Amino acid sequence: MQIEIQNLSLSYPGGFKALDDINLSISDGMFGLLGPNGAGKSTLMRIMVTLMQPSMGRVLVDGKDIGKHRKEIRTMVGYLPQDFRFFTKLKSWEFLDYAARLAGMNSRKERLIRVDEMLESVGLFEFRNRMANKLSGGMKRRLGIAQALIAHPSIIIVDEPTTGLDPEERIRFRNLLSDLGRSETIIILSTHIVGDISSTCNQMALLNEGSLIYQGTPDQLVQQASGFVWRAEITPEQYENLKTEVPIISTIPSSGGWEVQFVGERPAGIEAFPVDANLEHAYVHHMDNKLEHWNLK
Ligand SMILES: Nc1ncnc2c1ncn2[C@@H]1O[C@H](COP(=O)(O)OP(=O)(O)OP(=O)(O)O)[C@@H](O)[C@H]1O
Ligand SMILES: [Mg+2]
Repeated sequence: MQIEIQNLSLSYPGGFKALDDINLSISDGMFGLLGPNGAGKSTLMRIMVTLMQPSMGRVLVDGKDIGKHRKEIRTMVGYLPQDFRFFTKLKSWEFLDYAARLAGMNSRKERLIRVDEMLESVGLFEFRNRMANKLSGGMKRRLGIAQALIAHPSIIIVDEPTTGLDPEERIRFRNLLSDLGRSETIIILSTHIVGDISSTCNQMALLNEGSLIYQGTPDQLVQQASGFVWRAEITPEQYENLKTEVPIISTIPSSGGWEVQFVGERPAGIEAFPVDANLEHAYVHHMDNKLEHWNLK
C-alpha cells in the first residue's frame, strides 16, 4: 500500500495557511509525524481521513484520489482524533460495539468477539461495564485507540495517541501498533514526543509552521546531528552566555556550576566533549538549523 501526498496546501477560513505545499510518500509500516504545537499535524491528518478538503493538491491511496473515493477510503481508515470525546452514554464495551457497527462489521457475533479482543489489547477488559465517559483520561484515550483499530483498518491514523498514557500503557500501545505495522498496513501517528517515534517508526517527517522540513528515517535524521552534540561542565556565567548561542538540551547541577548538554558547533572558550546523538538531539539540531537558515532566530 502506498500513500502519496502531492502539493497539498490548506488555508483555513480567514486565510491562515496551515499547510504549505506538502509532498510526502508513505509506504507500509509506521510513519511518525513530528512537529511542534501548531505545525499542522492534525490538519494534515483531518485531510487524510477526508474530514476536510485541501485548498490545493491531493492525496492518493494506491493511486486513487481520496477526494473522489471518500466512501471507500473511509472503510479502510481507522482514526483517533486528538480531541476524541464520548458524547454517548454507553458502557465501554457498548461503545466499541457501536464503533464496530459504524465501521461496517455487521455480524453481531463477530463484533462481540472483536470487542473483547480489543478491550484486552488496550487493557480495559476489567472496565468493560464502566460508562465510557466515566473512565479516567488515560483510559478514555485507550478506548479511543481501540475504536480506531476495531474493524481491522488498513490505514491507521492516530493523532497524539499516547497523550495521557502512563509509561506502561505507552509501551503496550507501541507494541500493539508495531504488531499491526508488520502486516499490509500503514500507521501514521503524530506526536511531539520524540521518544514515541525513535522506538517504533521506520519512516518519519518533520513538520514546522505548515512546511515539511524533513522526510526520511529516524536514523538518517540522527546521523545529521552526529558531531554536533556536546557535554560540558560550565560556570553559571558561562551558562548565561552559552544559552544565547546554542540550544541547551539538559542541565544538571554539578560541583562547579552546571553540567549541560547542547547541540550545535563547538563554542570557543569551553571545554566540551562529544556525545552520541539521539533523535531528540537531532530534532533540536534540525529545527535550530532551519530557523537559522530562514533568519528567524
Ligand atoms: N479551525 C481552524 N481555523 C483556523 N485556524 C486553525 C483551525 N484549526 C487549526 N488552525 C490553525 O492551524 C495551525 C495548525 O493547527 P494544527 O491543529 O493542525 O497543528 P498541530 O501540529 O496538530 O498542533 P498540536 O501539536 O498543538 O496538536 C495552527 O496555527 C492552528 O491555530
Ligand atoms: Mg494536533
